[in-house]
Amino acid sequence: MKKLLPIANLSDLAPGSCLSVEADGIGVALFNVDGTIYALDNTCPHAGGPLGEGTLSNEIVECPWHRWRYNVRTGERPENPEFKVACYQVHVRDNVILVAIPAK
Ligand code: FES
Repeated sequence: MKKLLPIANLSDLAPGSCLSVEADGIGVALFNVDGTIYALDNTCPHAGGPLGEGTLSNEIVECPWHRWRYNVRTGERPENPEFKVACYQVHVRDNVILVAIPAK
């Protein structure tokens, strides 16, 4: 079961940028790739770096701590798809970004 939560305004996430937010106690990383919004778990599986504070290049985010890379569409590392972060479904209504996160 999932909950759809409003977590940010679209105007706070310019194309090519990313953002760390928290929704119902869950850290979420948001990414704007040419106007399409993607959401991943914010915690890098390597050592817990905040992916929403990384560097976004097209659909690849680089973790700010040790530079592991993830595809923001799939959550997979291009170099090693066995390391993967959770992807969350995104909806945009008016100027609001909503993310479907697991219900507790
Ligand atoms: S914590 Fe992300 S690469 Fe190390």
